[in-house]
Amino acid sequence: MSLSGGYDEYALIAELYDHVVPYRDRPDITFFVEAARNAGSPVLEVGCGTGRVLIPTARAGVEIAGLDLSPHMLAVCRQRLRAEPEAVQSRVLLAQADMRGFQLGRAFTLVTIPFRPFQHLLTVEDQLSCLASVRRHLVDGGILILDVFNPSLDALVNRPLGDEVADEPEFTLPDGRRVTRRHKTVAHDRSQQVNDFELVYDVKHPGGREERLVHAFRLRYLFRFEAEHLLARAGFAVEHLYGGYDKSEYGSTYPGELLFVARKTDG
Ligand SMILES: C[S@@+](CC[C@H](N)C(=O)[O-])C[C@H]1O[C@@H](n2cnc3c(N)ncnc32)[C@H](O)[C@@H]1O
Repeated sequence: MSLSGGYDEYALIAELYDHVVPYRDRPDITFFVEAARNAGSPVLEVGCGTGRVLIPTARAGVEIAGLDLSPHMLAVCRQRLRAEPEAVQSRVLLAQADMRGFQLGRAFTLVTIPFRPFQHLLTVEDQLSCLASVRRHLVDGGILILDVFNPSLDALVNRPLGDEVADEPEFTLPDGRRVTRRHKTVAHDRSQQVNDFELVYDVKHPGGREERLVHAFRLRYLFRFEAEHLLARAGFAVEHLYGGYDKSEYGSTYPGELLFVARKTDG
C-alpha cells in the first residue's frame, strides 16, 4: 500500500481530483483563507495536493508553502499555478516531502492540514513524527489547524462492507471524458481504527472506450479526546474545536468535522 494514500500511484487520480464534485464544492476554502490572512505570511499547508486551498490562499495575498508526497498531485498544482498571475505564483513555494519528517529550513505563523491528509498516517508513531515536524516549523505561539473527519458511530457499526455506493453526480473533463465515481468500504480494522476504502472511477472516453480505475487507500479515524491527547502530547494546546467550516460548535451537528485550532505551547 502506498505511503501517500495512493495519490502517487496513478497520474490520472491527480488529474481527476479537482473535477470530483464533492471536492470541487467542498465548503472549507473560506475558512482556511481567512485563517491564513489572520495569521499572516508565511503559512505552510501540509498535504497541499493540487492546490485546491493553497492557490486561493496565495491569491488572497498570503505567502504559502505547500508540501506533498505525491509528485502527481504536485505536478497538477504546478500546472494550475502557471495559469495564475506572476504575483500569485511568487507567493508559493512547493516541496515534495513526507509529512512524517520534513525540514524546510524556515518557520511559519500557521500550519494547516486541510481535508484529512493526517488520516493517511496509520500509527501513533507516524502521527507524532508529523506533529513534531509541524511543531519545529512553527514560530513561537504559532498555530496548527488539524482537519479530520468525526467518525460516525452509526457508519462504523452498520455500513455494509463491499457495497459500491453511487451517490455523486457524473462529471465531465475538459477533453470530453465522462466520469462516474463510486465509493466502497472494503474492510474495517476496529482494533487499529483503520478502514480500507476504494474510490472507483468509471471513465467513458469520447470515442466510446471505457476504463475503470481504482484508488485504494487506508484511513485511520481519530476520536475527539484521542486527538486532543495526541495534540497535548505533541506540544499543542487546543484553542478551538469546530464541528464545521462555518465555525459551528463541535457537536452541534453529528457527525460533522473535527476541526482543531491548536497553539504551539512553550518549551
Ligand atoms: C485528500 S488530499 C488533500 C489535498 C489538499 N489538502 C486539499 O484540501 O485538497 C490528501 C493529500 O495528502 C497527501 N499525502 C498523503 N500522505 C502524505 C504524506 N505522508 N506526506 C505528505 N503528503 C501526503 C496526498 O498526496 C494528497 O495530496
